[in-house]
Formats: sequence, structure tokens, C-alpha cells
Amino acid sequence: MISVLAVMCAPWRQVVRNEGTDDDREIELEAFDPDQAEQIDLLAWYAFAMAVRKQEKPDREAQPFDRWIADLRLPDAGYGPREFWGARRDGELVATASAYLLEGESDQVALTSITVVPDRRRAGVGTAVLHLLLPLLEARGRTVVEGWDLPEDGPGRRWANAVGLRTAKSMVVQWLDTADVDPVAWEVSVPDGYRVVDWSGEVPDESVDSFARALTAMRDAPIGESGVVFPVWTVDLVRKSEAELRTSGIGRRGVLAVNEATGEVAALTLLDFYPTLPTWGVQRDTVVVPAERGRGLGLCVKARMLRWLREQRPEIDRVHTGTGSDNEHMIRINHLLGYRTTSVSVGVNAKISELRDRRVEVAGQETG
Ligand SMILES: CC(C)(COP(=O)(O)OP(=O)(O)OC[C@H]1O[C@@H](n2cnc3c(N)ncnc32)[C@H](O)[C@@H]1OP(=O)(O)O)[C@@H](O)C(=O)NCCC(=O)NCCS
Repeated sequence: MISVLAVMCAPWRQVVRNEGTDDDREIELEAFDPDQAEQIDLLAWYAFAMAVRKQEKPDREAQPFDRWIADLRLPDAGYGPREFWGARRDGELVATASAYLLEGESDQVALTSITVVPDRRRAGVGTAVLHLLLPLLEARGRTVVEGWDLPEDGPGRRWANAVGLRTAKSMVVQWLDTADVDPVAWEVSVPDGYRVVDWSGEVPDESVDSFARALTAMRDAPIGESGVVFPVWTVDLVRKSEAELRTSGIGRRGVLAVNEATGEVAALTLLDFYPTLPTWGVQRDTVVVPAERGRGLGLCVKARMLRWLREQRPEIDRVHTGTGSDNEHMIRINHLLGYRTTSVSVGVNAKISELRDRRVEVAGQETG
């Protein structure tokens, strides 16, 4: 049984209790604000994060506190506001959760992540936290819970499927280690009838209108049964997202292929640079508008980006990208450029109402 005992105890506090965990101990869920939290709570979250990191990435060193907190305080641009919660059992921080409240066409989705500290797993904590979160997400206008980037064969996917979140999309994760690739692979000429425009930070004014139209063609990219809908981009939305990137300290580089006859953007690719990942580039959208497909423009703009990277940002030694597993063309282009596939991750989702109904049904079977 889940009961809400107290709400809004302090500006960033909200206490909800679950009496239904396997060992019948209370789980207390409490809102957490990394910008305002007290040092003692930040240290508890840091210890939690490092315990999880040690288990999941044993070969990696612990992150220094300062870098970890900078990372936590920097929301990813373009996903809307993010909220955090901590779950305690007998005062111990046993789980953390976060949700991005997506905006625009996807404003019914809470992009949610729940993590249980390794030595408290398989005791019902993750499930309890999910069910404590549901009413809070509904109160924020959400009807769908979605989770991304779960390793295909990891505990997250198994748990999610067990508690009623279906596998909604699959992504191939690919890395390009610049030192391992012969840059000859990036010597790709521009097809006749097109010119290439590169920019940093903001799309040039003369191209932004057709850039918005071209970016809207991302709606064709296969994303399985995700509840997320790619936006219809407008110039205002492009400028707003650029401003968000600036606020988050994220650098952006873009390469456009422009059709010389029409002056329209035919293809584009975007690469982001995060202050917390100083030697990484993060590949964002690449798209060729439908009428221009099959002419090598996707390969051309991505190759141009890599040549620029090598010349202008030699400190970047890895580029990271994720592509829908059924997006054969993009995966093939990435292989031609020297990317290697490192893993497959999945996205999961469910309607909040389905999860609640299922919980009632399972509880009914247990007691009945
Ligand atoms: C996924 C995660 C949150 C699960 O938390 P948890 O408290 O261990 O999960 P629960 O005890 O509530 O598990 C409920 C059921 O899910 C299934 N399940 C959970 N973990 C599983 C695993 N590693 N392998 C197979 N099934 C699993 C089981 O059916 C389990 O019931 P059972 O223990 O009676 O068999 C935890 O493993 C975790 O933090 N993983 C890393 C972060 C992550 O992947 N989060 C995903 C959500 S965004």
C-alpha cells in the first residue's frame, strides 16, 4: 500500500511513504535540489553515485566531488526542466531518481531514471520508488514514464520489463576514437550542386529558416514506440535551443549542405561539446531532407565535421553517437567514417495508468 503522508514540508521537500516493500520497511522519497541541498546531503548523494560507478564501471577512477557536482547541476539542454528525488530506508540513501519533464509535442512524457545502490538491490526498492514517483509525475501533467540508455542485457532492462515498462526502442551505441581512424576515410567530396556551410554556436541567419525545416525531417528517423515526438522546428525554437545550450555551457558545431539551386538546407549534422566531457564530442542530429536522400550528403556533412574536428579541436579524441538499431543507413555511414559499435541500449516506457493498474492487479493476486 502506498500512502502520501506529507507533502511540501519545505521548499524542496516532499515526503511520501511506501509501506508495501518486500521487507515492509518504509521508503521515504524526498525531493532533492542539487543547487540548494546541504553539504551533508550532497555528500550522501556523491557517496551513492561513486558506489554505483564502482559497480558499473570498475575500471574507471572515482570522479572528484567538484566535477561530479558540476555534472549533476548541469541539465542536458533540450530536455526541459529536471527534478531529482532521493529515497531513504531507515535514514540510509538507498535509491535516487530523476526525471526530465519534456516539453512541446512530448510534454506528456517524464524521461525518468531510477538507481538503487548496489547492495540494496532485489529487495523491492526500485519498484517501490517507481510507484512513489507515479503520482508526483502525474501531478506534473505526465501520462507516460520513459527510460533511456539501458544496456540491452543489463539489470535496468530486466527490472523495467518485470515491472511493466515495455521495450520501446533500441539504439546502437557507436564510438569513434580519432587516433584509431585513418583520416583518409573523411576525404569525401561535396556532391555537385551543393555547397557546405560550417558554423559554431548559432545557425547563420540566412540559413536558419530552412535549417528549421530540414531539422523537422528528423521526424522520419525511426524511434520505435517511444512516446517522444520530434518537434516541428521553427526559427524561434532553434534560437531558444541555442540559448539553452549557451546557458548550459555546451558548445555546438554544425555543418550544412545547401542546395545551390534552391538555397535550401539539404542536409545537416550537429556535434556538441560538454564542459564535463573535455575530450569528447557528442554527435546530435544528422538528417537529409527526403527529396535529397541517396546522394551521399549524409556522409559528406559528417566527414566534413570530422575533418574540422581533427584540425580545430585535436584534444577531442572520441566522438559518441547513438542511432536507432533499425536505421541501417546511418549505421553504415558511421562505419564508413570509422565508428565502431560498442553496445546496444534500449528505451522503455509505459503509461502511468497501466503501471498503476498492473500494481493493483499484482497486489490482488498476492492477497487473493
Ligand atoms: C534497475 C534497478 C533500479 C532495479 O532496482 P531493484 O530495487 O533491484 O529492483 P526490485 O527489487 O524492485 O526488482 C523487482 C523485480 O524486477 C526484476 N529484476 C530486478 N533486477 C533484476 C535483475 N538484475 N535481473 C533480472 N530481473 C531483475 C525481478 O523480477 C524483480 O523481482 P524479484 O527480485 O522478486 O525477482 C537497479 O538494478 C539499478 O539501480 N540498476 C542500475 C540503474 C538502472 O538501470 N535503472 C533503470 C531504470 S531507469
